[in-house]
Amino acid sequence: MINVIGLGYIGLPTALMLAAHDNEVVGTDIKKEIVDNLKGKKLTFEEQGMEELFKTALSKKIRFETAPVATDFYIITTPTPYDAKTKKIDCSYVINALKSVLPVALEHAVIVVESTVSPGSMDNFIRPVVEEYMSNSGKTIHLAHAPERIIPGNMVHELLTNARTIGADDETVGEKVKQIYTSFCQGEISLTDIKTAEMTKVVENTFRDINIAFANELAKICREANMNVHEVIRIANKHPRVNILSPGPGVGGHCISVDPWFLVGEYPYLTKLIYQARQINDSMPEFVLRRIGEIMEKHDLHDFSRVGLYGLTYKENVDDIRESPTLQLLESMKNHLATGLKVYDPMVKRELVQNQYHDLDAFLKDVDLLVLMVGHDEIKKNFSKLNGKIILDTRNIFPLEGCYTL
Ligand SMILES: NC(=O)c1ccc[n+]([C@@H]2O[C@H](COP(=O)([O-])OP(=O)(O)OC[C@H]3O[C@@H](n4cnc5c(N)ncnc54)[C@H](O)[C@@H]3O)[C@@H](O)[C@H]2O)c1
Repeated sequence: MINVIGLGYIGLPTALMLAAHDNEVVGTDIKKEIVDNLKGKKLTFEEQGMEELFKTALSKKIRFETAPVATDFYIITTPTPYDAKTKKIDCSYVINALKSVLPVALEHAVIVVESTVSPGSMDNFIRPVVEEYMSNSGKTIHLAHAPERIIPGNMVHELLTNARTIGADDETVGEKVKQIYTSFCQGEISLTDIKTAEMTKVVENTFRDINIAFANELAKICREANMNVHEVIRIANKHPRVNILSPGPGVGGHCISVDPWFLVGEYPYLTKLIYQARQINDSMPEFVLRRIGEIMEKHDLHDFSRVGLYGLTYKENVDDIRESPTLQLLESMKNHLATGLKVYDPMVKRELVQNQYHDLDAFLKDVDLLVLMVGHDEIKKNFSKLNGKIILDTRNIFPLEGCYTL
């Protein structure tokens, strides 16, 4: 039996996928509300393909609990934020989960940490907790690290098909973990040591962050030169060895905008490029705000309450608002006198910010300048409704001429 600890964006699909592939699964979350919802057959967030996966899992062996259960295989998927000041990882959620698991874990149990951790975290923070428990209890427990790569919006498909990394102390434990993941994962599974697995995961997201920062810096250069950055990138990408990513209003989410800080926090004297990339990407919401100001001036618009931000999530077609560029933009607005900006996101049903709308038509009726912050499918299907609006397209999704870009 496999006990998945933490039923958020990563833990829940993982637990359901394991159950759908005939593993007996217990999903544990400390939040009673999450467990109650799942027990009541209600999913806790929207994600493509999750409804079907949930149905399949429920028809097999899965149950949900608020505490860990006695077994010999655990997967921990609790959050790993970073300290905003020191930029160092906060392992406390993983450690608390571990401390709840250890007293019930069976002899020779394997505890897999799936949460993203900075290189060295397993040895520096997590292993000592296990070793102390082993010396007090006389039990033997094995640790492994299997970081997750799936992307929100396509999680179910990527869980099945992505290649994975498993870090373990020895081959026997590594093979045992691999066997579990092989029950559903069709991608290649690389076995390595724990520290390499930690570093690989953080490096992957840092690579993405740096490449996005390059595109964002180009957007700023092209703005200064009064050129269209998308046209420059489109043509440059015809070069056989060039593949520039798309600029945008900033980087959000729980991974790309967080993980590079783990390297900066651990190696501040070595991470100049990584630090600069973070700074550039974090500056983009402010850049969008300046762009809004320029466009308002050009159109003799003075009323911020006639400006609407479309999209609150950090990316298209998901309901995740963590580190969202729109929220960052609104935060920086607090320092400006102008207020009243309108906001709408079809994926965000709860009341999150001031002047938030829950109906596209009502939102569009109340704005003259529309800023496309997120390319949800909904707006792509409704471009015809934008006739007559001044548009700032920060995502390069609007197909017609005449809109402003970054
Ligand atoms: N979301 C992503 O796109 C993504 C992708 C790859 C990797 N990751 C990594 O996966 C990890 C989890 O991220 P997430 O997005 O699923 O986070 P999340 O916040 O959506 O989910 C974490 C869950 O853990 C629960 N939890 C916290 N402490 C617990 C405890 N002691 N016992 C039981 N449950 C507990 C919380 O209640 C929450 O439901 C992080 O390290 C993250 O960096 C996330």
